[in-house]
Amino acid sequence: MDPTPNAVRLTDVRLHRGGRAVLRDVSLDVPRGSITAVLGPSGSGKSTLLAALTGELVPAGGRVEVFGQPVPQAKHALLEMRKSVGVLLQGNGLLTDLTVAENVALPLQAHTQLPKPVIARLVAMKLHAVGLRAAAELFPRELSGGMARRVALARALALDPPLMIYDEPLTGLDPIASGVIMSLIKRLNDTLGLTSIIVTHHVHETMPVADHAVVIANGGIVFSGTPAQLQASTDPLVKQFLNGEPDGPIAFDSAGAMAGSAA
Ligand SMILES: Nc1ncnc2c1ncn2[C@@H]1O[C@H](COP(=O)(O)OP(=O)(O)OP(=O)(O)O)[C@@H](O)[C@H]1O
Ligand SMILES: [Mg+2]
Repeated sequence: MDPTPNAVRLTDVRLHRGGRAVLRDVSLDVPRGSITAVLGPSGSGKSTLLAALTGELVPAGGRVEVFGQPVPQAKHALLEMRKSVGVLLQGNGLLTDLTVAENVALPLQAHTQLPKPVIARLVAMKLHAVGLRAAAELFPRELSGGMARRVALARALALDPPLMIYDEPLTGLDPIASGVIMSLIKRLNDTLGLTSIIVTHHVHETMPVADHAVVIANGGIVFSGTPAQLQASTDPLVKQFLNGEPDGPIAFDSAGAMAGSAA
């Protein structure tokens, strides 16, 4: 048994993009089994934070640990680590000339030596988990936006990663499809014993399933607490973000605001 209680631990992390600091002094513990929502205005660095978790971006300072291990930089070790992190990116990234089943099979073909019938079986199970077993032979163009997102989710789950990260999983979906995706994320987290990190600006859809919420703005974490604490927060930054107000302590052009303070 691995005794590490945290799926993810960030300690004093500093992240640069394009030669300037996007995030600084970021410390965050994500307990195993939890759902953490990472909220914040556009351009605040939410996707940048995820890039540090997947090892795509090497921090300029601090430590990023996944399941008690520092995120490796060496290519082979990094590829190995990534098998334990399922990623659902905004664009779905489905290959248009492959069927739904073939798309979900891709990670299994790339990372395992399993025989074809076993892969087919696993693909059917993953599609069943997202309620799309009957769609196996469809092509991505034949899917609605919500279905395509669920296929991408099934593919992200293909290798049974214990950690799932979602970057804006609700973008482009109507309220009903959004509700389906959020309850699926919650159900998969609980039934499969996963840990989930959801980056989103859809506060109201995400809070009901989240155990923990983090708000990033102005180059760092400005709030960390439960959804109830978030709602009750009197912090002007948090209130401005929650209420979508153009004027307040979060600069509209956050790139400009940070540029002067990059060190
Ligand atoms: N590859 C890159 N090179 C240079 N700058 C980048 C790069 N990626 C992101 N940035 C900059 O880093 C900042 C944070 O970007 P990021 O994509 O993390 O924001 P975000 O919070 O995910 O925004 P959104 O909600 O719009 O997705 C932005 O100012 C962006 O311009
Ligand atoms: Mg983003």
